[in-house]
Amino acid sequence: MLVRVYASSVNMADVDYLLGRPNIARLGTGLRKPKNTGLGLDVAGQVEAVGKNVERFQSGDEVFGDLTEYGFGAFAEYACASEDAFALKPAGLTFEEAATVPQAAVMALQGLRGKPRIQPGHKVLINGAGGNVGPFALQIAKSFGAEVTGVDGTSKLDMLRSIGADHVIDYTQEDYTKSGQRYDRILDVAAYRSIFESKRALRPKGVYVMIPASISGVFQAMFLGPLISMAGSRKMGMLMWKPFKAQDVIFLKELLEGGKMSPVIDRSYPLSEVPEALRYQEEGHPQGKVVITVSHGE
Ligand SMILES: NC(=O)c1ccc[n+]([C@@H]2O[C@H](COP(=O)([O-])OP(=O)(O)OC[C@H]3O[C@@H](n4cnc5c(N)ncnc54)[C@H](OP(=O)(O)O)[C@@H]3O)[C@@H](O)[C@H]2O)c1
Repeated sequence: MLVRVYASSVNMADVDYLLGRPNIARLGTGLRKPKNTGLGLDVAGQVEAVGKNVERFQSGDEVFGDLTEYGFGAFAEYACASEDAFALKPAGLTFEEAATVPQAAVMALQGLRGKPRIQPGHKVLINGAGGNVGPFALQIAKSFGAEVTGVDGTSKLDMLRSIGADHVIDYTQEDYTKSGQRYDRILDVAAYRSIFESKRALRPKGVYVMIPASISGVFQAMFLGPLISMAGSRKMGMLMWKPFKAQDVIFLKELLEGGKMSPVIDRSYPLSEVPEALRYQEEGHPQGKVVITVSHGE
């Protein structure tokens, strides 16, 4: 399917891929430079043309999608991928808003799903709530009826309150693992602590899910997590993220179209300024998503 791209958005995965982080990933992504030079995963646009095997879409449809499994290349005027990479754009969202959703919101949802399910009244904490994944996670947890605490830096706390956080914690002032509060579910987007420190903040039968940012995080979540889980009632593990699955997208579209979740956009850059956008993602501490807009001279 050929899609005329109107917007994309930046993910930490784009920056990590470009910079070859962590080092061990270079075995797959290119030892000295990225193998794949077409960056960009999130995409929103209009179907320009379909191949003969495309069944779900036709020319002119407005779509959004994730190119992670289709060779990347969303920072471009056109993108080409299997129809499986796409879904119809949520009604009422602009292309820019839709382009923030595919990777970060799917990751947030998968991090909060799983058993035992979050129930109304459960206490949920999102650590690193103010970046790409966090604002979606916070709003999804609220939609489950949870009492949600968002942890992030000072400048992001007002934004977290504005999207529904019941409580906020400034990580520069307070360590949530030492506050004495206990949570039924922790989604650790900014996974800088040891798994043992995080365990302190879990209630009995609580669940901790790490989105790992480092090799040591992966090691702890994969090897120590199951041991801790076997030894007590608390479950500790790592998100095994799968890009853009149909069942996730249906649920997310319902939230977006029903006004229960809104993308948080920090700023937008034109396609010609992708390097600045990637730099801003890496160094600028964006609140929510950084968007790339693509003009077709209309
Ligand atoms: N976004 C994606 O789609 C995607 C895809 C693949 C993998 N991942 C992985 O998922 C993880 C998070 O993704 P993300 O894109 O949401 O990252 P992000 O946009 O960088 O968000 C992380 C948030 O955590 C905050 N933070 C930093 N240090 C903290 C601390 N000590 N305690 C609490 N919060 C802290 C950051 O604030 P400051 O600005 O103050 O630093 C930022 O707001 C990364 O490890 C990334 O590699 C993400």
